[in-house]
Amino acid sequence: MKNWKLNSWRKYPVKHIPEYPDKKELDQVLNKIKTFPPLVFAGETRHLKQQLADVVDGKAFLLQGGDCAESFAEFHPDNIRDTFKVILQMSLVLTYSASLPVVKLGRIAGQFSKPRSAPTEKQGDKELPSYLGDNINAIDFTEKARKPDPKRLFKAYSQSASTLNILRAFSKGGFADLNKVHLWNLDYIKKSPQAKKFKELEDKIADALAFMDACGITSDFNNRLYTVNFWTSHEALLLPFEEAMTRTDSTTGENHDTSAHFVWIGDRTRQLDGGHVEFCRGIENPIGIKCGPTSKPDEIAKICEVINPKNEKGKITLISRFGHKNVEKFLPKLIRGIKKEGLNVLWSCDPMHGNTIKSTTGFKTRPFNDVVSEVKNVFAVHQAEGSYAGGLHVEMTGQDVTECTGGARKISDADLSSRYHTHCDPRLNSDQALELAFLISDEIKKNSSYSKNAIQAAS
Ligand code: PEP
Ligand code: CO
Repeated sequence: MKNWKLNSWRKYPVKHIPEYPDKKELDQVLNKIKTFPPLVFAGETRHLKQQLADVVDGKAFLLQGGDCAESFAEFHPDNIRDTFKVILQMSLVLTYSASLPVVKLGRIAGQFSKPRSAPTEKQGDKELPSYLGDNINAIDFTEKARKPDPKRLFKAYSQSASTLNILRAFSKGGFADLNKVHLWNLDYIKKSPQAKKFKELEDKIADALAFMDACGITSDFNNRLYTVNFWTSHEALLLPFEEAMTRTDSTTGENHDTSAHFVWIGDRTRQLDGGHVEFCRGIENPIGIKCGPTSKPDEIAKICEVINPKNEKGKITLISRFGHKNVEKFLPKLIRGIKKEGLNVLWSCDPMHGNTIKSTTGFKTRPFNDVVSEVKNVFAVHQAEGSYAGGLHVEMTGQDVTECTGGARKISDADLSSRYHTHCDPRLNSDQALELAFLISDEIKKNSSYSKNAIQAAS
């Protein structure tokens, strides 16, 4: 890796990284974090990269989901369990209908820092620095709370470690057993139309398992029926922390950011000559790049080349987030620009960040129909361009929140105030998330068979 060092990003311009008032204290905290155990290890990131390479080849689908911002206040085992349950349910819906394995990637166990549209927030006559995520400052609207505090990084590290620990237990300890699918249902959605559909799926799976059981294939003998791989991800925004968590693998000499399996660069920090791209080009982890309406196809292609000079499959995931009305305008050009350079990328769709609006009641929200419509438009464009729409990136939670309008339970603008808990952007509740999975499973089926045919024709 030419001229790359753990701290070489510091020589480049960076956006959305706070100025800490006490730099000495920040350095002390970071030096301590450098001595902490890694949260994930190199072999795992390599394994995930292989799975993502399968997605690039149209042999699997990627589902990435979780909170917009994790918070210290919402840290609770039930919340982690319920997000995990919904991701499992969505994956099952997608796997069953499209007959494709689903790579499960949480926006979890480290998704704290947020880029903000404005550096300050005004309430009445008072103006204070914006809230930047619980690992940087606090959400309360006081001067003290909004001051960046390096010690918050210790709490964020510790929360990430225990979140990851319980996720590993859930994934490998029997909770994800296909014989226990019925236990994944959340109480509050039991009466919804999604629950009825999911029950039908459960019954079909139970029949298939009974048949396999009769043939001697049971979860006692087959690990695959009993465990899942569940990976973690967050935006690599706060580079001082990411740098402190990056370690050199003793067996290969490669650098891995051990704060998560997968990290992404946000739409506001993906400048070709910026510190975020510089940092990410030196780490082995698979990298996501968010692409919004301001992305220029040749610039995105150059970023891919800088981060992935060997054009390795599974290394780069381009996450498009144009807004449902803008997909046709921007996505075809981006796909063609990437194709022209012969770059291997996984195409994922984030239908959330381009569809955020202010409700009539003053809340930031996302109409469920717009979310669905962006996904459908993205699938249609990929199909027309002969590429494979391989992933979905959503902000969702297992909790019964009212943050996005619409869906089967028809959440209205007036309902938003009832359970609006997010620390940043509005999330799909589990009912809406599951509904989205059912709605798009047919699209995936069409798209994956299309891509398989295209791959066969090309080989
Ligand atoms: C996010 O994923 O929370 C985010 C800030 O997205 P984007 O960079 O696409 O705006
Ligand atoms: Co967000």
